[in-house]
This record gives sequence, structure tokens and C-alpha cells, in this order.
Amino acid sequence: MTISPTPEDRFTFGLWTVGWTGSDPFGVPTREALDPVEAVHRIGDLGAYGVTFHDNDLVPFGATVTERDLILKNFRSALAATGLKVPMVTTNLFSHPVFKDGGFTSNDRSIRRFALSKVLRTIDSAAEFGAETFVMWGGREGSEYDGSKDLSAALDRMKEGVDTAAAYIKEKGYNLRIALEPKPNEPRGDIFLPTVGHALAFIAQLEHGDIVGLNPETGHEQMAGLNFTHGIAQALWAGKLFHIDLNGQRGIKYDQDLVFGHGDLTSAFFTVDLLENGFPNGGATYDGPRHFDYKPSRTDGYDGVWESARANMSTYLLLKERALAFRSDPLVQEAMATSGVAELGEPTLAIGETTADLLADTSAFEAFDADKAGERSFAFVRLNQLAIEHLLNAR
Ligand code: GCO
Ligand code: MN
Ligand code: MN
Repeated sequence: MTISPTPEDRFTFGLWTVGWTGSDPFGVPTREALDPVEAVHRIGDLGAYGVTFHDNDLVPFGATVTERDLILKNFRSALAATGLKVPMVTTNLFSHPVFKDGGFTSNDRSIRRFALSKVLRTIDSAAEFGAETFVMWGGREGSEYDGSKDLSAALDRMKEGVDTAAAYIKEKGYNLRIALEPKPNEPRGDIFLPTVGHALAFIAQLEHGDIVGLNPETGHEQMAGLNFTHGIAQALWAGKLFHIDLNGQRGIKYDQDLVFGHGDLTSAFFTVDLLENGFPNGGATYDGPRHFDYKPSRTDGYDGVWESARANMSTYLLLKERALAFRSDPLVQEAMATSGVAELGEPTLAIGETTADLLADTSAFEAFDADKAGERSFAFVRLNQLAIEHLLNAR
């Protein structure tokens, strides 16, 4: 079964994803470069809603003003012709050698000033394209050797960079929010703000944290051995899931950037279940773009590039259909009740109950039969098997 996406599904792709030509640390490109104009037409034909990019995916580093204007003119025509939107823009602070020790956190102050200036200029361009999210992925913000960085100063400079960019957005009155993208390593040995949790704690220290949230990526949390669905759940709970990078990863290894669902499929099922159906007891929901940040395998030609773009969307929609079936199955609802899923939604203290009231409640302690309560089977295995059977379309 193939399901065809439409723009209402809000699928978006980075220009750098379908445009990745396959160069890696061990080999040269295996595909010819892709014109951004063609990329826009192709993903538009496949049913995507929008396209995203780094400043230099579109306008090469060091391009002249004339070159820049022509590129932007052609790109805008492609957007107009296809109706594709640009919901997110980001800055490349990692490819050029000048960023080898980072942008916001390079030990060299002149490089930090260059990086910050590049970010502010890209913010202007993001606003011109009508983007709502400005992603900051600090790929080179990190180190290989702990002694090479004053880690406290690095966090101060990261804060300075993000706060300055956020203040600039407010000052200009742009309808933009910043989304930090955590990653544990690669290309640096260790990257600052390595996980969703680190980034949330960092945002709490910012002056302009109200417009700063997260862009978690499936594979990045999984590279750290963490549960991606739990990560986006906590971001949602904190009101900070501003954007999302969906892809596939198999275990703790290099950033595989596989097609969504081609890594941990069960985890992908629960990710889609959360994004589409929300928390079982209510709470924050995500209504932003479903953005794919993956790499079409280096082994494949352009046939495989477009096949993989289609595969991301199709897999997402198949999982959405399966997740809806799972939630609406009466047997699942009964299993969830047996497992106490709704019970967790009930506050532990009654409305207005104080700690003194709790301590005075003998049924909560003195008369509470802990041994008997300890005998309760939560029957989580049965519930999970129902999820697997729905995932396999066996129900
Ligand atoms: C990676 C990252 C990047 C970022 C992109 C947007 O691991 O390579 O996921 O693809 O998402 O640079 O900032
Ligand atoms: Mn990645
Ligand atoms: Mn990403």
C-alpha cells in the first residue's frame, strides 16, 4: 500500500537532504550536484508542503551580490510555481574552515563576531522568506579535548550568541522563533548542548528564552542511546517543541540519517502516535511541519533520492494510519485502562490537599497494604503487543 502525501500533511525537506551528493570522510561524491530549483519542483511534485535550507545551501559562501540576486530570483520563481513554503531557515556555521573550532564558541573572537554577523543576516533572509522557525544546530560548537575549552566561557558565549539573535528578532519584530538542535557528537568529538535535556536546561538560563525552543532530531537522541519519543515529550511538556527533524538511526554509532522508520520502527510508531494523537491524558500538542532531515543513501542514484523522499512521507502516513487504528481499538482502550494509563493523569494529591492532610491520611500509609498493591500486574506487555500487532497491520 502506498499513501500519497498532500501539502496538508505539512511535510518539509531540507535542501541539503535530497541535495546531498554522497561525499563522506572516506569518499568523493557519488551523485552530481542538484540545482535547488529542481529540488523544489521534485519535492513539490511528490506532495511536500515546504522546503528549508541553510544560507549556503542556496547562496554559496562568498558569492557576489549579482550571483546572490540571480540565485534568489530563480529560487523564488520555483517557490511561486510550486506553492512550496519556507517554514524554516538555518545558518551554515560548520562547512568553511573558519568554523573549524565553532562559530559562537570559537576561541577566536573575530570568528565569533563573523559567525554572529552571518546569523543575523540569515535571520533577515529567513524573515523575508516568511519562515517561522530559525534553527541553530551547533555542529562545530564543541571540542575534542577538554583542556582546549573553558567550558563555562563556552556556555557564556553560546548564551550570548543565542540571546543576541533572539533580541535581534524581537527588535526587528520578526515572526520568528529560534529552535536549538541538540546532537551529542559529529562533527566535533563532543558537541555542546548534546541532548534535548541539556538544551532545555540551557534555555532556562537565557534572557530571551521565551522565543527559544527545540528542534530535536530522531537520530541525534538515539546516537546518545536515548529515547527520542521521551525527548520530544519533555520538549512538548515544557512548551518548547518548536520544530522537529525526523529520520532513522540504528543504535549508538555515527549519524546515519536514514529514512524515517528505517531505523527503530517501533520507536517511530510511538513518535508518530505522539505527534498525531497527543498524550493519552491531554496536554501540549505539536502542529508544526513534519520535517525530514535524512541523507539519501550514497549507494543510490537520483532514482533512490526521489524514492527515499517519497519513502519518508509514505512511512510517516502509514504509521499515522496505524497509530490511529491503535488508539481507537476498544481492545487497546481496555488494555490501557488495565495498565492504568489514565490513572497517571490524576494528581496524586486531591485539590487543596496539604502535606499535613496526606500525612494524616491513614489509608495512604498506616492502613495501606503495600504488599497487596505490589501484586498488581500492570500488563504492559499485552498493551505493547497490541501496539506491535497494529504496527504490523495484523489487527
Ligand atoms: C546533522 C544535522 C544537520 C542540521 C542542519 C540544520 O547532523 O547534520 O542534523 O543536518 O539539522 O544543519 O541546522
Ligand atoms: Mn543528523
Ligand atoms: Mn538535523
